[in-house]
Amino acid sequence: MLRVIAIDGPAASGKSSTAGRVAEQLGWAHLDSGALYRALTLAALDNIGEGGRGTGEGWSGQRIVSLADELPVRLVLVGEVFRAEVAGVDVGEAIRSERVTRHVSVIAAIPEVRTWANAQQRRAVEGGGGVGGVVVDGRDIGTVVFPEAPLKIFLTATPDERARRRLSQRGEAVDGDLVQRESQALAARDAADSTRRIAPLKPAADAVLLDTTALTLEQQVSRVVELARGLFPG
Ligand code: CDP
Ligand code: CDP
Repeated sequence: MLRVIAIDGPAASGKSSTAGRVAEQLGWAHLDSGALYRALTLAALDNIGEGGRGTGEGWSGQRIVSLADELPVRLVLVGEVFRAEVAGVDVGEAIRSERVTRHVSVIAAIPEVRTWANAQQRRAVEGGGGVGGVVVDGRDIGTVVFPEAPLKIFLTATPDERARRRLSQRGEAVDGDLVQRESQALAARDAADSTRRIAPLKPAADAVLLDTTALTLEQQVSRVVELARGLFPG
């Protein structure tokens, strides 16, 4: 049995926080696939540039994938967390910038990029580092990357609640105008991720849907851990 828990959902629904805590409680590793797409976007912006698109060479899938292999962009297991690295440097903070967030969905829609990212994730899970299993979070984990995962969770929450969560996570004021602006930015990214041709954001047919709008982080974590304990033999 593949020891993978797939957690998918829209932006700021709580995927990474939930996946990280579930992994901790189960003694498993955590892989945030969004961090890989973000690291690749950072590498493309820094090495190819924003103006590269549409110039013929620009943001072609092939060019981005070659860059990823050269630098390299990769996932490295540190303790029980897969960390995204660019040229051997931990980019955990740099990948959360507004600039990366603004461009990541365009890069993530490129077919060659997805093939590359899927291979990285499968390799990481295969080499799992001797841990009990891997909790992987993203957009297409249950549908495309690990469709055979025995437990698939699809997290949702209203756009305003997700906007409030993202603002407080960044330590910003959670006031009306900012919530509205953040909510619109999240909705635009969700729309791009849900309507792309390859691996769109959607729940797998056998995913457990969890609306977290009125839940605390602890409640949603307990729910997933409970499901996992029922499914995966110790
Ligand atoms: O944390 P947040 O929800 O803001 O985003 P993320 O999980 O870091 O993912 C950033 C972007 O990467 C998403 O908006 C998607 O465009 C892309 N992504 C994807 O296409 N497939 C995945 N499995 C994970 C992320
Ligand atoms: O990975 P994703 O973008 O889906 O979301 P996240 O970065 O894990 O979560 C966004 C923020 O929402 C984090 O600061 C969580 O602690 C917070 N949060 C949550 O995930 N679930 C709740 N029920 C309440 C808050």
